[in-house]
Amino acid sequence: MKILITGGAGFIGSAVVRQAIREGHQVVNLDMLTYAANLANVASVSNAPGYAFEQVDIRDREALDRVFAEHRPDAVMHLAAESHVDRSIDGPGDFIQTNINGTFNLLEAARSYWTREGRPEGFRFHHISTDEVFGSLGEDGQFTEDTPYDPRSPYSASKAASDHLVRAWHETYGLPVVMTNCSNNYGPFHFPEKLVPVVILKALSGQPIPVYGDGGNVRDWLYVEDHADALLTVLEKGKLGRSYNIGGENEAKNIDLVRTICAHMDDLHPEGAPHADLITFVTDRPGHDRRYAIDPTRIRDELGWRPSVTVEEGLRRTVEWYLANEDWWRPLLERDGVGKRLGTG
Ligand SMILES: NC(=O)c1ccc[n+]([C@@H]2O[C@H](COP(=O)([O-])OP(=O)(O)OC[C@H]3O[C@@H](n4cnc5c(N)ncnc54)[C@H](O)[C@@H]3O)[C@@H](O)[C@H]2O)c1
Repeated sequence: MKILITGGAGFIGSAVVRQAIREGHQVVNLDMLTYAANLANVASVSNAPGYAFEQVDIRDREALDRVFAEHRPDAVMHLAAESHVDRSIDGPGDFIQTNINGTFNLLEAARSYWTREGRPEGFRFHHISTDEVFGSLGEDGQFTEDTPYDPRSPYSASKAASDHLVRAWHETYGLPVVMTNCSNNYGPFHFPEKLVPVVILKALSGQPIPVYGDGGNVRDWLYVEDHADALLTVLEKGKLGRSYNIGGENEAKNIDLVRTICAHMDDLHPEGAPHADLITFVTDRPGHDRRYAIDPTRIRDELGWRPSVTVEEGLRRTVEWYLANEDWWRPLLERDGVGKRLGTG
């Protein structure tokens, strides 16, 4: 299959690109290369015969039309987005432009191409979204695919809007879509402004490890390579017009996650141990959702998919990867905003 993957130079998109190429698919990686992108993420596959790269902004409809006409993909996997909640608090404009208007453009470009091609039955538009669209949970309960939307940050509101557009393009125009909403990803090639790499790199440099609020916020943690595998499964086997929640079956409080990373650091990089002594509680993010949890029943029962990695194992692999790949992360620390406290409102 030839898959047009948007956001393929980002964290999750690049994992999907690498896995799709490994599985023998052809890939057109479409990415405008924002601050969050890195072509080094796909260096291992960029010479593969089935790989092509297009530096294109999804807000540019003409460029999208050209890419569809030139590459004639069998499927689209849409991951391009502004993705950092703290940045959405400081500057929501880019989130509205890319996540909402950009998705609208991509849907229209895909619809026009699909119509021109005679509405091929096998065509798929797979929209990748987040569990944050469902809002915040109390102590109990989990998000199912039927949980009402209740986004509370500019980021999650923009993703929720994009989900609604994708559903509407299916219901109104019959565009063959599948949708997924996943929990917090972590793993290799994670941009060093998100919690897991921040903790590893602060611990490594002996600097304070910032934990928002009381550290009691709960997230479900999904290893990025498991996520890539789930996404390709949904693309191939998912039912049209249906959404699937994807979780790691690993719920953890932020503070416990941070302590687990510190324990792996003590073991793999004993210099500076115990690294947990560096943990420092800082002012909470405004509107910080307390708890997210995923009910993975649908993807498990309908598509037979489950995560392969526990959070314990995934974090260990991630710490090992950062310790072995300083050449990858060191230059990223110079990018705009990295290492600074963002999103304090
Ligand atoms: N990281 C997570 O934990 C998580 C969880 C749930 C859902 N998601 C969703 O998964 C997708 C990928 O997330 P990620 O963590 O890999 O994000 P990321 O920020 O690492 O990568 C996003 C990529 O999109 C590209 N991009 C941004 N704006 C663009 C535009 N206008 N045109 C073309 N390309 C553009 C960037 O250059 C970057 O390569 C996003 O849609 C995000 O909402 C992420």
